[in-house]
Amino acid sequence: MITGKYPSLRLRRNRKHSWSRRLIQENTLSPNDFILPIFLIDGSNKRESISSMPGVYRYTINRLPQIVDRAINKGIPMVALFPKTKNSLKNEIGSESLNENNLVCKAIIEIKKKYKNQIGIMCDVALDPYTSHGHDGLIKSNQIINDETIKVLINQSLLQAEMGCDVLAPSDMMDGRIGKIRQALDRSNYQSVQILSYAAKYASSFYGPFRDAVGSKGSLKGDKKTYQMDFRNSDEALREVALDIKEGADMVMVKPGMPYLDIIKSIKEKFKIPVFAYQVSGEYSLISNAIQKKIINEDAVYESLVSFKRAGASAIVSYYADRIDKIIK
Ligand code: PBG
Repeated sequence: MITGKYPSLRLRRNRKHSWSRRLIQENTLSPNDFILPIFLIDGSNKRESISSMPGVYRYTINRLPQIVDRAINKGIPMVALFPKTKNSLKNEIGSESLNENNLVCKAIIEIKKKYKNQIGIMCDVALDPYTSHGHDGLIKSNQIINDETIKVLINQSLLQAEMGCDVLAPSDMMDGRIGKIRQALDRSNYQSVQILSYAAKYASSFYGPFRDAVGSKGSLKGDKKTYQMDFRNSDEALREVALDIKEGADMVMVKPGMPYLDIIKSIKEKFKIPVFAYQVSGEYSLISNAIQKKIINEDAVYESLVSFKRAGASAIVSYYADRIDKIIK
């Protein structure tokens, strides 16, 4: 119940000093709240910048310690791996996703060898980094075919689990894939591999810089509206989440982040499960480029990240995660 009346009640009183503001603050951030995405590239000894994402790089496998050490030192609990696959390795059916020597597999092995369980590893389950058409699934007669795609996603999941991935994150939005992947994992003795479902993933323009970063932008034919959600909808997000929980998701993701805080909040209120937010590439680029151009100041980063906690997110996937100490200060 909200009570009180001006002038006996003045809310500004509690805001007068920093110490008082600190006492009454409702939400805080800690490094434990973050997942750091890492982009991988082929080759050796390279760290490549991504022009639309100032401060974010792609790393070759042998350079991974540079960024993983950083994440561990800052207390980040988990990294998420995203490969930039060479065009020559892409095809219609994304077969590179099932190659045990692909970039993601090599990275999982390297990280697990060096760091054991000091840090968790999350991997996307979807075909878009591997397909010549840039879609997350297989195509037949101009349609993304659901059930046939799931068969490949199951194999991709099993492969990544075998390499040592801790958290599988299906980001493909096919119907029914969480249940099928869970069953396959359990049958193969991967009962303890977690599933973080990108349950409410919207067909969004905010993914632009990511598609640049993984090199799927130029190749993407059409849009992803037949599988990713319509951004006009919110009830539908609850249905997606309900299904994924029933099918065995341990955690769910809402993506993008800032334009979808209402969705995070209603999922958290309704289902009481860990909800993660993905502050996606377009959000990162907007904020970072505006700071670079001095249109806004850098405190905007902290403000944007706290908004996810306020909405009820347990954790945030953010390209700022490796600099979180400076942001929290
Ligand atoms: C692939 C995937 C995408 C992102 C994460 N996994 C892009 C897409 O669906 O097109 C976007 C992340 C970002 O923009 O930061 N399924």
